[in-house]
Amino acid sequence: MSSFPSNQPKNTIEFKEGVPISKLFDDVYFSKEGGWEESLYVFFNGNEVGTKIKDGTQSIYRIGELGFGSGLNLFVTLDNWKSLENPKSITFVSLEGYPLNAETLPTLNKSYPDKTLWYEELITSYEIAKDTWEKDKNKNLWTYIWDHKTNKSQFTLNVYFGDIQICLPSFPTINSWYLDGFSPSKNPDMWSPEILSILRDKSISGTSFATFSSAGFLRRNLIELGFVVEKKKGYGRKREMVSGFLE
Ligand SMILES: C[S@@+](CC[C@H](N)C(=O)[O-])C[C@H]1O[C@@H](n2cnc3c(N)ncnc32)[C@H](O)[C@@H]1O
Repeated sequence: MSSFPSNQPKNTIEFKEGVPISKLFDDVYFSKEGGWEESLYVFFNGNEVGTKIKDGTQSIYRIGELGFGSGLNLFVTLDNWKSLENPKSITFVSLEGYPLNAETLPTLNKSYPDKTLWYEELITSYEIAKDTWEKDKNKNLWTYIWDHKTNKSQFTLNVYFGDIQICLPSFPTINSWYLDGFSPSKNPDMWSPEILSILRDKSISGTSFATFSSAGFLRRNLIELGFVVEKKKGYGRKREMVSGFLE
């Protein structure tokens, strides 16, 4: 199995005011204004994750993310999970075809100095997994686990390295989706009908989703697959975002 065609294009990163920008996709990893708050608003609150995980039971809550990038959505979700007294266990499953270099990751810490983001042990673990995948494309899963301080729940991170077409079929059944590719016009393979159909297969009745994109074709494709789709006010000055659930 190969997780990319041999002619995979190179992704180069540049920084503008602390925000990583992909030169390959010509797009930002997160917004300059309020990246943390936007992630909280669009993905965590857009899926009502806080309400769904607040009472710990045996069941595990599974979040699926398309596009791990800098890990910002992970840290926002982890921070909120840690702040709850008795949360459910979470499995946060993500994928990434163009993993950032380990040296780039701590730059995120400078943008949010009062938060716990990329610490040394976590970066080392990421780097080992990324190096392993670069040498052998079959070994493409990075796993890391956090224990909760007041109950016995755990937060498990699973990131698959490789192209979305290879990685998404490995996902388990998901309860909430964070659809966070680059904008659809710049990153069409993250939002294609084929990908959305795999996403539908990995969903169950009630599975929710949220995305910053309100593109008409995306809403139509999701509705066709059986999702209820709702347009909402976007974060800050952004006009719209979209969320919904599978009927
Ligand atoms: C907007 S960024 C994600 C931001 C991320 N959630 C964060 O918190 O920093 C989109 C991500 O999707 C990845 N991506 C784009 N096309 C992909 C593909 N075909 N397969 C896998 N990953 C892809 C990019 O490399 C990028 O990291």
